[in-house]
Amino acid sequence: MEVLLAILILAVLGALSLALARRSGISLAGNLGAIAMVVLCVLAVAGFLWLFYRTPGTDMGVAQPIPFSHRVHVNVKNIQCEYCHPYVGQSLEPGLPPVEKCLHCHKHIIARHPQILKEHQYYDTKTPTPWKKANHLPEHVVFNHQRHIRKEVACRECHGEVESMDRIRGKFFYMHFCIECHRAKQANIDCWLSCHN
Ligand code: HEC
Ligand code: HEC
Ligand code: HEC
Ligand code: HEC
Repeated sequence: MEVLLAILILAVLGALSLALARRSGISLAGNLGAIAMVVLCVLAVAGFLWLFYRTPGTDMGVAQPIPFSHRVHVNVKNIQCEYCHPYVGQSLEPGLPPVEKCLHCHKHIIARHPQILKEHQYYDTKTPTPWKKANHLPEHVVFNHQRHIRKEVACRECHGEVESMDRIRGKFFYMHFCIECHRAKQANIDCWLSCHN
């Protein structure tokens, strides 16, 4: 979104300056160099923005140290979100399940699966599974799950259909996303009191 917007703004600016140049009688041909420069700058900025914003958000989803699938666990095996993210309604952090919780089931289920053997290694060496973060919120934003879960805002309103994803797709949360829903639901939209510290 932001990238498209930036390109659009730059394109409009470029067109405007061209039009201005025409009106003041400067010939196009004489200014080809300048025009080329403008075009190059636009491309450079667009390219930079694209690289900057694209990185964690690739459509494939974030590759994890163990290819854990929400689709298999939630959709096929019917395990509730709260079983693995138990603090989502009680604290700032929903929590990711510790290895012990996986092994609770996987001691018995597909116990010899290579990925489950890998879980055992993490467990035996007391290494927390190095899950990669998929969701990103700027550091100056305080986000509180509890307030939202209590008001029955569904997980999918912010996270999409996690239950049908093998890999969670990376996502940046931008302010307009928060504000739009806060407006619609008449929640607090005071910047400093509520979201920024
Ligand atoms: C069997 C355990 C389990 C269940 C059930 C489960 N999750 Fe997860 N969840 C995980 C694990 C493990 C991760 C970290 C690995 C990953 O991102 O795939 C995770 C990651 C996530 C993340 C990404 C966190 C981040 O920013 O990196 C979200 C969002 C999420 N889960 C939402 C849900 C929702 C919504 C449900 C219910 C529809 C659910 N989970 C059910 C285990 C589970
Ligand atoms: C409540 C029980 C339960 C918990 C907790 C659980 N799983 Fe599973 N998991 C299952 C079941 C059932 C299957 C399907 C097994 C099969 O294919 O027969 C499965 C399948 C898998 C598979 C193989 C998937 C595939 O595509 O073949 C992996 C890998 C896996 N789980 C990893 C994990 C990890 C990592 C955790 C902890 C974050 C975890 N599981 C937590 C029940 C559980
Ligand atoms: C109002 C929007 C919203 C709702 C509703 C919501 N989440 Fe989140 N969730 C977020 C945001 C924003 C983050 C990123 C927080 C951060 O990076 O500090 C996040 C992060 C997470 C994480 C990753 C935490 C971590 O430690 O990396 C998990 C797991 C998660 N959510 C699970 C859930 C589950 C399960 C539900 C439903 C019961 C849910 N969320 C409902 C917005 C939401
Ligand atoms: C899908 C709807 C929705 C989205 C998206 C959403 N919120 Fe909310 N939010 C709510 C609702 C509804 C409440 C009211 C909860 C209450 O009254 O206790 C709320 C309350 C809050 C509060 C508590 C405000 C207070 O009164 O002190 C904070 C802080 C907050 N949200 C931050 C965020 C941030 C940050 C984001 C974006 C990452 C976000 N919200 C996205 C629906 C949403």
